[in-house]
Amino acid sequence: MEFPAYRPRRLRRTEALRSLVRETTLSPADFVYPLFVMFGTGVRREVPSMPGVYNLSLDQLPAEIDELKALGVPAVILFGIPDAKDEAGSGAYAEEGVVQEAIRAIKAHDPDFTVITDVCMCEYTSHGHCGALDEHGCVMNDVTLEMLASTAVSHAEAGADMVAPSDMMDGRVGAIRSALDAEGYSEVPIMAYSAKYASAYYGPFRDAADSAPSFGDRRAYQMDPANGEEALRETGLDIAEGADIVMVKPALAYMDVIRRVKDEFGYPTAAYNVSGEYAMVKAAARNGWIDERRLVLETLTGFKRAGADIIITYHAKDAARWLKEGE
Ligand code: PBG
Ligand code: ZN
Repeated sequence: MEFPAYRPRRLRRTEALRSLVRETTLSPADFVYPLFVMFGTGVRREVPSMPGVYNLSLDQLPAEIDELKALGVPAVILFGIPDAKDEAGSGAYAEEGVVQEAIRAIKAHDPDFTVITDVCMCEYTSHGHCGALDEHGCVMNDVTLEMLASTAVSHAEAGADMVAPSDMMDGRVGAIRSALDAEGYSEVPIMAYSAKYASAYYGPFRDAADSAPSFGDRRAYQMDPANGEEALRETGLDIAEGADIVMVKPALAYMDVIRRVKDEFGYPTAAYNVSGEYAMVKAAARNGWIDERRLVLETLTGFKRAGADIIITYHAKDAARWLKEGE
């Protein structure tokens, strides 16, 4: 007996048929928008390598939040650009630090908008590394854990809804979890940058946050791009230490890692579509070499198809607008 051949094109004939069998849908509710905050007033400084992305002074935040809310984007992740840096990165955990003040400014304007904070030292240290240095210029793990824990607690005190450690020190999720619990913030979740690679794709971010290391690189703490198995070990450790959401970063060159992490752990999984990924798209679009709208929506859909539940992306506002237009 002869079986009818499966003819996939039957279901591609019209948009209605295609949408009936579509496996993955993208929504503005999946997005987290990164914000670079600084002191001062009236500052809206475009990052040269990231067209459409700005360093914003605190007074600009309410309007920014209103815009995101209107677009259906539910959350921001904050990065701070402090007025001054020092050896100890004290601006990271200062009660009146720039991120702490930004959290207060957003929460005063809209208590319901979700504020996530990046927890790291590199924006605040004079040397630009993600922790405290020993006499050889090597980042000291356990001393750094205390700084990170104080930073996370100071963010929670200011009203952050979630903290996201991006430093890649061993044991930082556990250290932050204990400190938050001890200070009465057991309800504040941790989104861990679990599989964070030592990547060339962070270049534009380091312009935006003025956080490039003044010597050396981050390969002694961030992951080797060649390693996939290790991503599962790193993620497993973070989950054992209390991570609520795990992250893969960057996203585009690590789609396989997103899929493996999702399959292995079944945890809420975030993909960070990083600055260099954004800059490449913007540069090509400016040259008229690609269709920006189609390319961005295709890429973001790819992250979801790979297993991401949450997408941290500088394209969030544009993508949310395009998705709304397409409704
Ligand atoms: C800080 C941090 C970085 C990014 C997020 N948090 C930079 C780095 O590790 O050098 C990169 C984000 C991006 O490139 O968009 N540790
Ligand atoms: Zn860092």
